[in-house]
Amino acid sequence: MTDFLKTLGAAAEDVNLTLERMLEMHDDPEAPLIEAMRYSVLDGGKRIRPFLTVAAADLFNVDKKRSLRVAAAIEMVHCYSLVHDDLPAMDDDELRRGQPTCHVKFGEATAILAGDALLTKAFEVLADDKTHTDPHVRSDLVLALARAAGPEGMVGGQMLDLIAEEGDLNMPEITRLQRMKTGMLIAVSCEAGAILGKATDGARHALHAYAHDLGLAFQIADDLLDVEGDEKTVGKKTGKDEEAGKATFVSLLGVKRAREQARLLVDQACEHLDLFGEKGDSLKNMAEFVINRQA
Ligand code: IPE
Ligand code: IPE
Ligand code: MG
Ligand code: MG
Ligand code: MG
Repeated sequence: MTDFLKTLGAAAEDVNLTLERMLEMHDDPEAPLIEAMRYSVLDGGKRIRPFLTVAAADLFNVDKKRSLRVAAAIEMVHCYSLVHDDLPAMDDDELRRGQPTCHVKFGEATAILAGDALLTKAFEVLADDKTHTDPHVRSDLVLALARAAGPEGMVGGQMLDLIAEEGDLNMPEITRLQRMKTGMLIAVSCEAGAILGKATDGARHALHAYAHDLGLAFQIADDLLDVEGDEKTVGKKTGKDEEAGKATFVSLLGVKRAREQARLLVDQACEHLDLFGEKGDSLKNMAEFVINRQA
């Protein structure tokens, strides 16, 4: 695992550099917007989604410059979702990645705009021919990310999450909620690698199946951290789900069974990668990391 943490750290550095270049500060009157975007994206985060994109793209020997651009775009969408998720009208959180949340630091209006700008910037990056010379690849990337992030994906899941505060959701309903809220962005992170690599249908399906199980395992781990995690280590307030009366895997299954379920999902996720032989090892290590992490 320590070797894997080094690999994850190196991948994070690469994506940080890419993001840094995409979000350069200029001496313009709208500079506070860029500052709030940079604040929300740089310095922090485990960079799980960018890692998935680069590792999946590596399976098909995609040029790193390309996969890093796509990884950065997906991370921007993720960070936008966190900025909006933390707003007073949503989860009303003051701590994110160990720092004050964007709206605490810059005010609510600027935080809303920073989120909007990160979302749109992500699509600008994907549509740029620096990302890929083949316009079909670019439009496939745009379509896949739009589907994953929009009403049938993450944003739809966030809506269901608000409804989950009313409690009593059953297992299939929670599974659907989590799959949309978190799973689809994780899935598209992997799928993007396959799109860049013009992968065969078989390889693409295997990655999709891996990401499907990984996404659920990831959210169970997030819910477990909310119950058991240490606020300082996690870098965000804990105990929030129970306080909000939110139905989660943990509220439904209890800690022990939720953890068993996450383990099962990770084993299943890794089996889907057998197709790739040793080349699939870094994605397998990521799956282990996702359920063993303390933050
Ligand atoms: C947290 O995601 C938000 C959820 C989707 C549950 P991460 O745990 O990946 O957050 P960072 O990017 O590492 O801060
Ligand atoms: C947020 O889920 C998921 C998205 C931002 C789409 P949570 O509300 O559980 O994430 P944390 O716990 O605040 O990171
Ligand atoms: Mg939330
Ligand atoms: Mg939240
Ligand atoms: Mg959470």
